[in-house]
Amino acid sequence: METRITQLLKIKYPIIQGGMAWVAEHNLAAAVSNAGGFGVLGAASAPADVIRQEIYKVRELTDKPFGVNIMLMSPFAKEVAQVVTEEKVSAVTTGAGNPEKFLEMWKNAGIKVIPVVASVAMAKRMERHGADAIIAEGTEAGGHIGQQTTMTLVPQVADAVEIPVIAAGGIADGRGFMAAMMLGAQAVQMGTGFVVANESIVHDNYKDKIMKARDIDSEVTGLSTGHPVRSIRNQMTREYLKLEKQGASLEELEYLTLGSLRKAVMDGDMKEGSIMAGQIAGLISKRQSCKEIIEQIMKEAEQLRSK
Ligand SMILES: Cc1cc2nc3c(=O)[nH]c(=O)nc-3n(C[C@H](O)[C@H](O)[C@H](O)COP(=O)(O)O)c2cc1C
Repeated sequence: METRITQLLKIKYPIIQGGMAWVAEHNLAAAVSNAGGFGVLGAASAPADVIRQEIYKVRELTDKPFGVNIMLMSPFAKEVAQVVTEEKVSAVTTGAGNPEKFLEMWKNAGIKVIPVVASVAMAKRMERHGADAIIAEGTEAGGHIGQQTTMTLVPQVADAVEIPVIAAGGIADGRGFMAAMMLGAQAVQMGTGFVVANESIVHDNYKDKIMKARDIDSEVTGLSTGHPVRSIRNQMTREYLKLEKQGASLEELEYLTLGSLRKAVMDGDMKEGSIMAGQIAGLISKRQSCKEIIEQIMKEAEQLRSK
């Protein structure tokens, strides 16, 4: 299926793997790119040197295009922005902030710039500053979220900008994929669906939690701080919400979540860990490789298209 995004990123299928903190390392990114999608390394708060090594490791595993997600709140964002420029990765996606100050440097290096946005205003602003495409992410998504749903955000962003739009949040099968395309997207980005992939290094406890989750098992914490996060309900989210209700300080709340995603991803700690995942977790129940995940979605989409 050819779209403006497959042409822009030179990929076979319009499926992008979200650049997830701790989760999206070289094995996952390379597996997605080898399967014809677009793999993305999640730079999160990692130092620039670590990301450079990760880029080299992806290149050992695939000769296909891949990208890096830069979390703009990271203390190393500037250095990582420099490293991706030196290494000339195919594309950069950005989260948690405004990438304007790096745009010129990346564009001059021929890197495609694709910010993640949660509103029409931000999408228009990114387009004005030269972004090549936009990821419109709905509140259904796992991790840090905005407030608009994918269903409402994607068509409004698609109407507001000329650059191609990628839909994210709540997509994990052919129906979700086709719905996103109908809303005006040229590709989808999936996070939760790839957390459980065979090639993902995430602890089995985490994968099991996603596969056993029901539609109502995710919870949003941090609304009071202005940085809401969606994850699977557990001891940590309950304590967090209790503290939030009691009007706890930002420091107290931050202390509770310090290193919590790492605890869940690496140690499989399902009590104190942050099991970031989206509302679509309820639909995910199979252990599959990235290739199987992508090919199944494309097959289902094809069947729906020819109905
Ligand atoms: C565990 C996890 C970590 C994530 N970390 C990041 C991140 O560091 N940067 C970012 O831009 N998005 C991050 N996301 C969001 C994903 O890239 C993606 O946009 C989102 O998961 C799509 O929604 P879905 O989970 O419903 O598929 C994360 C998502 C998950 C589940």
